[in-house]
Amino acid sequence: MEEKIISQDCQRNGERCRILAIESSCDETAAAVVENGRKVLSNIISSQIALHTLYGGVVPELASRKHIEKINQVIEAALSEAGVSLEEVDAIGVTYGPGLVGALLVGVAEAKAIAYAAKKPLIGVHHIEGHVSANFIEHPDLEPPFICLIVSGGHTHLVIVKDYGEFEILGRTRDDAAGEAFDKVARAVGLGYPGGPKVDKVAKEGNPHAVEFPRAKIEGSPYDFSFSGLKSAVLNYINHANMMGQEICVPDLAASFQNAVVEALVSRAVMAAKEYGYSKLAMAGGVASNSALRAGMREACEKAGISLYYPSPILCTDNAAMIGAAAYYEYKKGTRHGWDLNAVPNLKLGER
Ligand code: KG4
Ligand code: ZN
Repeated sequence: MEEKIISQDCQRNGERCRILAIESSCDETAAAVVENGRKVLSNIISSQIALHTLYGGVVPELASRKHIEKINQVIEAALSEAGVSLEEVDAIGVTYGPGLVGALLVGVAEAKAIAYAAKKPLIGVHHIEGHVSANFIEHPDLEPPFICLIVSGGHTHLVIVKDYGEFEILGRTRDDAAGEAFDKVARAVGLGYPGGPKVDKVAKEGNPHAVEFPRAKIEGSPYDFSFSGLKSAVLNYINHANMMGQEICVPDLAASFQNAVVEALVSRAVMAAKEYGYSKLAMAGGVASNSALRAGMREACEKAGISLYYPSPILCTDNAAMIGAAAYYEYKKGTRHGWDLNAVPNLKLGER
């Protein structure tokens, strides 16, 4: 149960506030120490990509087992690299949803055990709030309110970040997430897992206008997204070419698919910033490291006079530094969780 506590907040005295953050919602076991929400003292990520590549995607049961194997080492490494002892940490932040339940449980149980044993406050963090907060780390001038496009393997949301941890959702995907579409298309053309970075790379050699794929619009919901039609169009294109015995130009196909995704994301994000009157736009999540999306968004934002923010690629994909950033702002607001904190696999944005 979440509680609001008016605490002996270390910020009251203008002191340093260090958070040990843990992230294990999917296939990265990660821990970080973050000072005052924006300064990363360490950011350790143990990736399970090699393990899951064998199966072409994340196998939840294997992910949980690997998290258990790695989590203590990763936390020890985060503390040692930061040069901070557990006693010097002010609070423990942990992702408690959304994500794979077994994977989340490993991080949540670990965080509770450490917080209880070390007598530190426990702060459960929403994974998407973490992704958004990755932007604060490298952009000291960025403060809410701003528009944020969150594009990851599991989520596609367009939101107004009204304040730290406060969101108004303008649009979301009706079916596949943007990253999911990248992963599925990559698999269909034999690029393997995880697909996003591979499509991004091969698309650099292709013509983005070689194939005109459909752009979905949702009647009455201008900020919602839909990527399953696009994914089906790519699969149909591949099947048709195979039936006709035609060779597929993978770079052209990848570039054309990517172009359709980028157009859908850029047009809605910039339209939202203009319509709602925000001059700052941020991107977050794994797909935010896509080079064509960054280029397309930069161009559109320059034209519209909007300041664009996005994290370095290492802070776009899953990491614990972003959880430490989000946990700090929650800590300052007085958010504390009890020992009954549980993993919530389908935790909604803005829900606590
Ligand atoms: O944020 P993230 O690490 O995990 C989730 O919370 O889902 O995002 C992972 C997703 C994957 O679907 C991956 O293919 C995609 O982000 N991704 C990319 C790129 N890098 C990662 N998609 C397109 N282009 C990239 N460069
Ligand atoms: Zn994520």
